[in-house]
Amino acid sequence: MTRRTLAVISAGLSQPSSTRLLADQLAEATRDELVRRGAEVELRVVDLREYAHDVVNNLLTGFAPAALREVLDSVTGADGIIAVTPIFSASYNGLFKSFFDVLDAESLIDRPVLIAATGGTARHSLALEHAVRPMFSYLRAVVVPTAVFAAPEDWSGGTADGALRGRIRRAAGELADQIDRRLPATGPADPFALTTDFLQMLGRDDVPVTPGRTGAPPAPGSARAGSPPG
Ligand SMILES: Cc1cc2nc3c(=O)[nH]c(=O)nc-3n(C[C@H](O)[C@H](O)[C@H](O)COP(=O)(O)O)c2cc1C
Repeated sequence: MTRRTLAVISAGLSQPSSTRLLADQLAEATRDELVRRGAEVELRVVDLREYAHDVVNNLLTGFAPAALREVLDSVTGADGIIAVTPIFSASYNGLFKSFFDVLDAESLIDRPVLIAATGGTARHSLALEHAVRPMFSYLRAVVVPTAVFAAPEDWSGGTADGALRGRIRRAAGELADQIDRRLPATGPADPFALTTDFLQMLGRDDVPVTPGRTGAPPAPGSARAGSPPG
């Protein structure tokens, strides 16, 4: 059974939050779709309001406090992302944008993402298409075709009503399809991983080193094989 991780990000500021409610329903629907495809699913739900101060500190100092670092790693290391924002002034809210501003711009390349939003009026539903989708396109993530917007009239007694329920199911299926056609994620990139071949820098291609480690002799036929030292 393949193990899959889903990072669910809610930028709702109220408590209780309709944005979090939508995020939960999208997460549940996506988990069901992945389980139907034979996966075991781990959900990581992130309420960004709990990390708002850390996000601002990261913007000001360039460093993520430990709690935020752990969240950033869980998002960049997930197989798929569900990103939900309330619409403020016809766009994503500031907390949502700031969170993605502190992520490494290359960390979501080719990552399947489902985008969704809540708003006070259905007239602003296209904010998902003119603001949220372009941001993820810039990050080179793979955003599924169905974006889910929930207006107040789409809810009935705390659950998604008719058409909204259908959109949630369709978007969840699209996200599960994208995740399913990829190999399981291997976690966040190691920022301290060695990318430099020190032996080559020292001109010591002749020194035998354990194969597979940085500095190992080149494989026959590789670009480095037979190249002069220095
Ligand atoms: C500062 C502010 C600006 C808002 N601007 C808009 C807007 O432009 N369009 C809209 O549809 N709703 C707008 N809203 C309403 C919120 O998007 C809506 O209430 C949302 O569902 C709140 O999510 P939450 O319950 O998770 O906090 C705004 C709300 C606030 C507080």
